[in-house]
Formats: sequence, structure tokens, C-alpha cells
Amino acid sequence: MPTVHITINDKNLTVESGLTILQAARENGIEIPTLCHFEGLPDKANCRICMVEIEGMRAYQPACATRVSEGMVIHTDSDGVRAARKTTLELLLANHSVDCHHCLRIGSTKEPDLDPRFCEMCFWCDCERDGFCELQTLARAYHVDVLPYIQHDKDHELDLSLGSVVRNPNKCIKCRRCVEVCGEVQTVHNLSMANRGRATMVVPELGKLMADSACVRCGRCVEVCPTGAVFMQEHKDEVLYYAHSYDHDTVVQLSANVIPELTALYKVGLGEITLKKVCAALHKLGFQTVMSSEHAEKLAADEMADTIERNVENGPVIVSNSFAVKNFVKKFFPDMEAQIYFCKGSEKQFAKYVKRLEGDKPVKSVLITNVLEQAAEAKEEADIDFVLNARELYRLFLRTGGAPARKYEEELDKVWEDPPIRYEELLREADWNFGKEPEEVTVTVNGKKRKCAIAHNLGQVRLLLEGSYTKYDVVRLMA
Ligand code: SF4
Ligand code: SF4
Ligand code: FES
Repeated sequence: MPTVHITINDKNLTVESGLTILQAARENGIEIPTLCHFEGLPDKANCRICMVEIEGMRAYQPACATRVSEGMVIHTDSDGVRAARKTTLELLLANHSVDCHHCLRIGSTKEPDLDPRFCEMCFWCDCERDGFCELQTLARAYHVDVLPYIQHDKDHELDLSLGSVVRNPNKCIKCRRCVEVCGEVQTVHNLSMANRGRATMVVPELGKLMADSACVRCGRCVEVCPTGAVFMQEHKDEVLYYAHSYDHDTVVQLSANVIPELTALYKVGLGEITLKKVCAALHKLGFQTVMSSEHAEKLAADEMADTIERNVENGPVIVSNSFAVKNFVKKFFPDMEAQIYFCKGSEKQFAKYVKRLEGDKPVKSVLITNVLEQAAEAKEEADIDFVLNARELYRLFLRTGGAPARKYEEELDKVWEDPPIRYEELLREADWNFGKEPEEVTVTVNGKKRKCAIAHNLGQVRLLLEGSYTKYDVVRLMA
């Protein structure tokens, strides 16, 4: 592999040629701030926050879009670079509704005041990303204490039409991450940039409301947005009301997929936050039953396994339990809708269980998961009352003094017997990814080896449904 010799911040390095300065720096433990860059998405180099100084060049260059070359001498944190980044942040904030600046959190800028835990104790701020917004974090790191530039009018209306994915154009920094993920990875192409200059904004298909647009509610734009410009509609205040209400019972299904993000938000070591600790904290807040989503996931996998066994002899079996895939197929492959077996997802299995509980008191169901399409499905198909993700749960705990990082643990409530696991390689809980090609696996079904494919994003779903699904005995589609 050809290499080049470079120097970053007086450190002599030998790095692979062809890398960007950002990649070379990060591989060697040198952090350069980024906003528009997102690992796995194409670089647009439009935010200018990653600017670095390269000796011999008159202007600062974006580290995410500049490739290393032999003998390059780079400074990533000089006074000039820091000042340029601060100005960039001030300019971004001039076009950003800063309702996290209303109090002393950033405005008076003593580091301890900026602790996100402190933020949650007050009710001034109504930004869903307060405390874990990438722009806010950088504003903090570069001591943006006052906003010297004109605050342009930020009076765009929020698009709440879906009831799940919400757009707030007043918070958008035009980094295009959402546009890329929706277009390049999910191939939905619902989001695009409209207008020019200061009027530039991200809009759904033809400027429609989200509910009327091509959005399939996969929630991936929410995951990549660095600010509060796209977020999942929150329910934590209502959830808390019902947790404290004597007139209702509350049943929670808790998914292990929130644990990594909770651990990161609490800034504690791996293993310090566990399902049992979260369970204890939820019981303490007033939730009666807290069960693990593992049971419902096993039931969901069991239904898919049955479907596969029943139909595998009759040609390719295409199965999915994803809400976003269902919407995607309706929108882009309507002719194939009847050919795909849509099974119940774990959230529907949970809803089915909750229905059986209705007794003297009404029951409110709460799904805690980081799978955002489940939140949209719960809203639209109305089986589950509320969905919280890891960020909402974190803020709920901060606001109420719940503390899953403490030592108290409680067993999760066991509510049904789990079915045996079949075809784990194919039906396991699998991650979304940025890849272009579906994963291939082989499993033995009804005594025969079967060639299977798993789509880990909607781009891969498209590829399979356009024809390549015929190469397989079983295809599983995820969004
Ligand atoms: S939720 Fe998915 S389909 Fe809808 S705009 Fe976001 S990325 Fe696109
Ligand atoms: S909505 Fe978020 S991800 Fe999309 S361009 Fe604006 S800030 Fe970036
Ligand atoms: S991260 Fe490099 S220009 Fe935005």
C-alpha cells in the first residue's frame, strides 16, 4: 500500500496515500471537528468547520475534502484555525434559532454551567437536542459566548404533520446529511435543498408537508442530523403523567438497543448502565410493568420463521417486519406488495400482549427503543400509546432524578414463555448500514441448505426488489 509522510501538529506520521487529512488525523488520534461530514456518507465540504492550516497554502483547507500528499505540514489547532472555526460557528448560529442560549448555559459560559444535566433541570429551553447537539457542543468548545452577527428571522413553521418525524427548519445548518442519507442510502430522495443563499432550506418532495411527501418514516434523517432540525416527536411529559397516574397502569417494553446511547449520554463506562438498572429506575418512576423487548423480538422472529418454512418450496420467500419497508414497497414497488410477507414486528407483538391486560384500569403502553421507524408505526397504527428513544429517556431521568447509573438493579418482568430461536443468522436483530450490497447467508430450512439475503437499508431493498431477489430462496428486508 503506497504511503506518504506528513506532519500534523508537529507529529511526524506515515499514512496511506489517498486518505483525506481528516481520515489521517483520526487514524492517529488527532481530533478535527466536523459538522457536514458523517462517516459513511459522501463528503460535501460545505460547513467549513474542519478547516486546517497547511504550510505553503494561502487559504485554510477543509480536512474532510483535502487529500494528504508527500511532505504536507498541517496544523489543526493553531490560533488562526481556532479563530476561523469560531467565526464559522458564529455565522452558523446567526441563522439558527438558539433556544438553548436563553439562560446561562452557553451565554455566561463557565464550563460547569454547561453540564447537560444542569440543562435538564430548567424548563426554558425547548430544543429536543439540548445537551447533545453537535453545534452546541462545538459552540461550547470554541467559547462562542455572544452572538455577534445578526440573528435572521427564524419563523418557519414546524412540520408536525407526521406525528413522528418532525422538521424544524429554524434549526437547520444545511449540512445536507439528511439529504444524502435519504437519497443516497435509502434511495427515497424525499429531501432536497431548495432556494439559494440565506433562503436555502431542506424541503420534502416538491415542498409538501412530510405527511403528503414520499417519506417512508425510516427515521434515518433523524439519526444523522447534527442539530434539532429533524427529530422524533417527543412524549416524555405525557408518559410521565401516566406513570404517576393512579387511574392507569403503565406497561413498558424496554429494548437493549437504547443501552449504548444511554451509556454515552451519561458518559459512564461500558457495562455501567444495564437493562436491569434502567428497569429499576423506571419502576421507581411509577411504571408498573417493565418487560424486555427480547420476548417480543423472539415472537416476531418466530412468525417470520413459520412464514419461511411454509412457503420456501414455492420460490423465493420475501419477508419483512419493517414499517418503513412496507411504506417503501407501497410507494416504489406496488406491484410486488402482494408477493411480500409482512409479519408483525416486535412492537405489534407487544401491543397484542397489552390488549390482553386491559382490566379494571385502562393500560397505557410505552415502547422504549432506538428504532425510530417503530415510533412512527406506533403512532400511525395506534397500537402503542407512546414511544421513547434513548435521548428522551435520558432527559426524562434527568428531569425526575431517575438514575440508571446507580447500583440498583431489578429483574425485568417476565410475561410469556419465549419460543425457540430458529434461523438466527437470518432473523437476528441486525444493524442498519451504509453498504450498497445486501448480506448473503446460508441457513438450513426444512432440511435443505437455502441461500438467503438480508437488506440492511432501503437502497439494498431496492436492489433486491429490482430483480436480484430471484437469486435467493429467502430474502429478508429491513430499512
Ligand atoms: S424518515 Fe427516511 S424517508 Fe423520511 S425523510 Fe427521513 S430519511 Fe427520508
Ligand atoms: S435538517 Fe439536519 S441533517 Fe438536514 S441539512 Fe439541516 S441540519 Fe443538516
Ligand atoms: S466537515 Fe469538513 S467542511 Fe464540513
